[in-house]
Amino acid sequence: MTTAAKSASPSSAAPMQTRPLSPALGIEITGIDLSQPMDDATFDAIQKLWYDNCVLCIPGQKLEDLEQVRFAERFGELAVTLHEYEAGKVHPALMYVTNEKKDGKFVGALPDGEMYFHSDMCYLERPSMATMLYAMVIPSVGGNTLFANMYKAYEALPEATKKQLDGLKAVNTYDPGHSNYAAMRTRMPSSAGSPTARSYAHPIVFTHPVTGRKALYINRLMTESVVGMPRDESSALLESLFDHQEQPQFIYEHRWTPGEVIIWDNRCTLHARTDFSANELRKLRRVTVKGDKPV
Ligand code: SIN
Repeated sequence: MTTAAKSASPSSAAPMQTRPLSPALGIEITGIDLSQPMDDATFDAIQKLWYDNCVLCIPGQKLEDLEQVRFAERFGELAVTLHEYEAGKVHPALMYVTNEKKDGKFVGALPDGEMYFHSDMCYLERPSMATMLYAMVIPSVGGNTLFANMYKAYEALPEATKKQLDGLKAVNTYDPGHSNYAAMRTRMPSSAGSPTARSYAHPIVFTHPVTGRKALYINRLMTESVVGMPRDESSALLESLFDHQEQPQFIYEHRWTPGEVIIWDNRCTLHARTDFSANELRKLRRVTVKGDKPV
C-alpha cells in the first residue's frame, strides 16, 4: 500500500509517498530528491518515519559525496572514519563498503562475504546512532542486507526472560586484528585477550532515547559474554537470545538497487549481509552518525 506523507518535498512538486518494506520493519519513501536542500518540515517528517519504522529506504537518488554528507548531518554529528579510500576522500566522515581493489589490495571496508548480525560500533562507549549507505554498484546476485527489529524481538520475549535481563550488561568486542573479521564471531577464543581488540559493556536491553521503547542490544557477531555470569551460563543465555532475535518474523532482507539510500537506527535494529561473488563489484558509500551511551 502506498500513502502520501504529510509534508511535501521542496525539491519536487509531488508529495512524498511511502510504502512499508515488510511486516518486520522499514519504509520506502519516494517523491524526494536528497541532492536538493530540504526544509525542516520535510526533514522532520522523514525523521518521524525513521523513528516509527527503524529503517528508511529512499530509491532513485543521484548523490555526490558531499550531498550524502549534508543529508546525513541532519540526523546528528557524523563520525570520522580513519582509513578507507583516503586518496579520493573529500570528507572525513565518508567511507566505502566495497570489494574494489587497487594494486591487488582492497581499498574500502568490509569488502567480502557474509556478515553475521550486528549493530555498528557497539564495542565503543558511544556506539553509532545511525548508519547510511548509498548504493553505487551492486552484484547481480547476493550481497543483500538484512535488518532485524530489536523492539519486536524484545517485546516477544517471555516475561520471565525480560525480568532476567533487567539490569544485565554484555561485553561487545571488535578485533581489527582479524583479517576476515566480517565473517567471524569475536566470541571465538582467538579474540580473547588480543591486543588489538576493543570492548565495551552495554545494557542487554536498551531504552531508545527518543521513542522510549525497549530493544535487545546484543548481537551474534560482537557480543562476547554477560558481565558477572559464569562463562557456560553466559554462552547459553546469549545463544538462546541470538536464536530468538534472528527469527524470520523480525527480519527484512533488502536486495539493493543502485541509487538507493538506506538509513537505519542502530539502537533498535541489527543488520547482516548475505554472501556474494568475489568476481563482481559491490560498492556502497557509507556515513555513520554518532550516538549516546546506551542506558
Ligand atoms: C555494514 O555493516 O555497514 C555493511 C552492510 C552491507 O555491506 O550490506
